[in-house]
Amino acid sequence: MASYLDTAVEIAREAGALVADFFARGIPFELKGEYDLVTEADRASERLIVERLTRHFPTHAIVAEEGGGHESASGYTWYVDPLDGTTNFAHGFPCFNVTLALEQQGELTAGVIYDPIHKEMYTAERGAGAYLNGKRIHVSKVAKLANALVATGFPSRKRHLSINIHFYYQVGMLTHGVRRCGSAAIDLAFVACGRMDAFWEFGLNPWDMAAGRLLVAEAGGKFSGMHGEAHQLRGPDLLVDNGLIHEEILEIFAEVFEGKYRVPMAKI
Ligand code: IPD
Ligand code: CA
Ligand code: CA
Repeated sequence: MASYLDTAVEIAREAGALVADFFARGIPFELKGEYDLVTEADRASERLIVERLTRHFPTHAIVAEEGGGHESASGYTWYVDPLDGTTNFAHGFPCFNVTLALEQQGELTAGVIYDPIHKEMYTAERGAGAYLNGKRIHVSKVAKLANALVATGFPSRKRHLSINIHFYYQVGMLTHGVRRCGSAAIDLAFVACGRMDAFWEFGLNPWDMAAGRLLVAEAGGKFSGMHGEAHQLRGPDLLVDNGLIHEEILEIFAEVFEGKYRVPMAKI
C-alpha cells in the first residue's frame, strides 16, 4: 500500500506539471488584496490537489490557501499551498513550488515541496529523514552567523505593517547576506539541504511552512518562534536554521525587538 508520503509526492508531481504548463503559456493575474496576486494556476492546482486528496483520504481535513478545503474530526489534516511563490510565477520569475503536508493528531508526519521548473522534489517523513530527489539531505555545518547565508521573506498582505525590514538590515550586516527569493517553501527547503543556513519570516500561513518545517527538522535543523519559544504551526512567525546559529540569531532578534541596533543604519 502506498504511504501518505508516496501519495503526496504523486499529487505534487501532477500539480507541479499543471502549474509549469500554465507558466510556459504565461497567464494573467488578478488581485486578492492590494499587492496579493492570484492566478488561474493557483485555483486549478488547488482543485486538482483537493480532488486527489479527497479521493485517497475521504475522511481527512484539508486546509488549502484558496479556500477549497474542508473540515473533519478525523485528527488528520492536510495543509496545501497549490502554488507558493505566485508573485514570482506571475512575473515569469522561475521560483515557485507546490507544497503539501500531513498533520496527524497535531504532529507533522509527512511533507512535500516540489519545484517543477528545476524538477526538485523535497520530501520528509517524521523520523525517516529529509530527501531531495530521493537523496538524503542535511542542514549546513556553518557554526558562526558571520559566515552564514540566510533568507527571509516579506508578506504581500498589509505589507506596510511589517517590522521585518529592521531584522533584515541587522542580519544582513552581520552575515554574508540575506536572500529574498519570494517563496517561503523554497527558502525552507534550501535550509534543509544546506544551500542556506537560516530563514525567518513574520506573517506566514500554515500551508507556507508545514512541509518545510518538517523537512528542516528531519534534515537536522532547528525551528522556533522569534523569541525562541516553541513554534506554533497556526501562528504567523517562523525561524529555522542549522541549529548551530540559532542562539546567535535569537540574540540579534531580541535586540531588534528592544529597538537596539548593533549596526546603525546609514544616514541619508
Ligand atoms: C508567499 C511566498 C512568499 C512569502 C509570503 C507568502 P504565496 O506565498 O511564500 O515568499 O514571503 O509570505 O505568502 O502567496 O505566493 O503562496
Ligand atoms: Ca505560500
Ligand atoms: Ca499560494
